[in-house]
Amino acid sequence: MKWLQTNWVKCLRPPFIQKAYCTHSPCGSKERVFITTPIFYVNAAPHIGHLYTALLADATARFHRLHGKEVVFSTGTDEHGLKIQSSATKVNKTPKLYCDEIAAKFKALFDRTDVSYSHFIRTTDETHVSAVQNFWKILVKNDYIYQGKYEGWYSMADEEFLSEEEVCDQRMETGESQKISVSSGHPVVWVAEENYMFRLTKIKPKLLEWLNTGVIYPREKRSQVDIALRNLQDLSVSRSRSRLSWGIPVPGDSTQTIYVWLDALINYLTVAGYPDHLQHWPADTQIVGQDILKFHTIYWPAFLLAAGLDLPKQIVCHAHWTVDGYKMSKSRGNVVDPQERMNKLTATGFRYFLLRSGTVFTNCNYDDAVAKDIVNAEIVNSYLNMLSRVSSKSINKHTIFPSFNEEDFQTFFTKEERSMFNRLPDLIDICNGYYNGLLCHKVSEAVFEYIRWSNKLFNDHVPWKLCKDPANDRHLHCLLHVTMETLRVCSILLQPLIPHIAGQVLDRLGISKGDRLIKHCLERQLVHRIKDHPLQCQKNHIMQRIK
Ligand code: ME8
Ligand code: MG
Repeated sequence: MKWLQTNWVKCLRPPFIQKAYCTHSPCGSKERVFITTPIFYVNAAPHIGHLYTALLADATARFHRLHGKEVVFSTGTDEHGLKIQSSATKVNKTPKLYCDEIAAKFKALFDRTDVSYSHFIRTTDETHVSAVQNFWKILVKNDYIYQGKYEGWYSMADEEFLSEEEVCDQRMETGESQKISVSSGHPVVWVAEENYMFRLTKIKPKLLEWLNTGVIYPREKRSQVDIALRNLQDLSVSRSRSRLSWGIPVPGDSTQTIYVWLDALINYLTVAGYPDHLQHWPADTQIVGQDILKFHTIYWPAFLLAAGLDLPKQIVCHAHWTVDGYKMSKSRGNVVDPQERMNKLTATGFRYFLLRSGTVFTNCNYDDAVAKDIVNAEIVNSYLNMLSRVSSKSINKHTIFPSFNEEDFQTFFTKEERSMFNRLPDLIDICNGYYNGLLCHKVSEAVFEYIRWSNKLFNDHVPWKLCKDPANDRHLHCLLHVTMETLRVCSILLQPLIPHIAGQVLDRLGISKGDRLIKHCLERQLVHRIKDHPLQCQKNHIMQRIK
């Protein structure tokens, strides 16, 4: 029992996010939470990094729904800009057709992995185009836009302007030297153009005020933003239409196209109903990868401040996936295609692996063999094995979820065993803390500690012997209750990570669909068991071992 206890102490202090969600709802209406992912570029098919962000947001959305909240959850695709224009040209397609095809791939991937978005926005949507043009006019009206000459470095791959400090020289194989972006490694070119500029420097003091309230999570990521803040200059927010035609025209000046990041960031407002029916704003949690933190913590709030709109409550920045220890890149040929991997690992298995291994704090390396081993060890051998053991006809003759009997519990179980079972409600608090901190890997760690414990408990009580003699029925039933109740609570808590499988386990345990919220973890007497209750018959295997 020692190993459990020491781990529990660690679990008990999850790094809660400071900004708690408001816990009461006005006038009895459901509390609403607005969660966003970035909108992804359609210059190539989605990879595991894109999927990871969507899954992290989805687990968070599902967690809030399990608290009875209404969730607005948006994701989508970023379809304008030089990068898309040039990718479409390369494959001889019109940009729109090209975007349609890749946007469909993102949707198919998210649908296959149970990403329960409420909005899938595309920046080519008409409502979005008009929202962006409206926003531009407000910036002009509020005197944040002026005409000026822009000169500086530009990375097309990142659609990003960079200062001297943010670029460096790289020796190419040919011996020539090439300027690249320090953070992304992508090549940059020198741009000198008459453009519209945004008064970013003017907004800096207000921006700092917001940043100092601790909106960035994890907090350590703030330093990355400070570097960019030191070099703050006004931002070029348009390009000449002759160079960039695939984008939204500047209202009143058809020779200029709106900068793709201004266009893209406004997607969150479009989803929220801007301009005429703004209702979900401000967003509660905006999840981004560490590559685009600057855009979400400098440009985005600056645009909002200039337009007189509220700022998001929290920006969550997660670490990246690497493959073979390297950043994924087409040229290295190490881009992991999630669709292909799921054919082997199953959609649920793959989803589980990404969520239980990725973290917001440190980069995580993808490895096929590790993924397979984890899915087999945890989902199949531990979790589903527990279910099949407690529900097998040889041990559980009448296939029931037996009711609880305190007296038998005292008689047949040791003090340590009782204490572990009685602390099951603590697991709920622990997981709540972790989910609030978007620490899915910690949720899985804490839940699986209980699942492993219940497997061990089951073994220790040798039920295959108990079931031989009816005199042991009370002992056997008590054991079945304790292990099934543990499975019930663990399954409720696992729903955000593996909705499909956890749902099937709960089906099997006979827990009705309306009794699967977090609050039901505690409502033992209500949900079940004044009396023994029958299990639902199992038609087929929930999931097979992966070969
Ligand atoms: O930047 N590991 O789109 P994008 C984890 N369109 N997550 C990763 C990742 C990795 N290796 N690689 C990418 C854009 N991501 C803009 C965003 S928002 C208004 C506009 C995830 O297709 C992560 O969320 O390059 C990252 O921030 C995002 O994909 C970038 O996707
Ligand atoms: Mg990118």
